[in-house]
Amino acid sequence: MTALVAYATHSGATRTLAETLAAALREVGIDCDLADIEEAPDPAGYDAVVLGSGVRVESIEKSAAAWAKEHAEVLASRPFAFFSCSGSAADPAKAGRQKATDAFLATLDRAPVATANFPGWVLMDRIPLHERVLLKSMRTPTGDFRDLPAVAAWGREIAPLLGA
Ligand SMILES: Cc1cc2nc3c(=O)[nH]c(=O)nc-3n(C[C@H](O)[C@H](O)[C@H](O)COP(=O)(O)O)c2cc1C
Repeated sequence: MTALVAYATHSGATRTLAETLAAALREVGIDCDLADIEEAPDPAGYDAVVLGSGVRVESIEKSAAAWAKEHAEVLASRPFAFFSCSGSAADPAKAGRQKATDAFLATLDRAPVATANFPGWVLMDRIPLHERVLLKSMRTPTGDFRDLPAVAAWGREIAPLLGA
């Protein structure tokens, strides 16, 4: 079977999660393509689709939301999974909830077969100056909070749901 892992990123963390996920899906025998949303990948030719998006100001990336809207019929017609990549997912107090994810899921015609909210990174040297000022004013914790083994484990977990 084939799958597309499409991702939207500003500072690169979501790309690394998507790469890890695609590698895990390939290990269980899924013929998996990886594509940046900026390349406008067409999900129609795949048996299953995963979309990953970074979170900014309580929303998923606009490009990811627009892509999901454009391809809504395709995504509703085959196994579709979604993951977010954010700063707050590193906070145990948030217990895995992500407002941006919940808001995005509410826009879909059909619920994904799987959803996850993963921690990303907040690295000041990877974001523009004006955003650094915003994050500092919000006292956002900085660091690399990614848990790539957890992303790979999620890939193995959702493979059967994607149809492997
Ligand atoms: C301007 C800005 C706004 C952000 N807003 C949020 C937010 O509302 N909630 C959150 O959990 N993380 C927020 N973050 C943290 C990002 O989600 C985190 O850096 C993530 O790794 C971004 O993914 P990316 O590197 O793929 O762009 C923000 C980061 C930036 C730079």
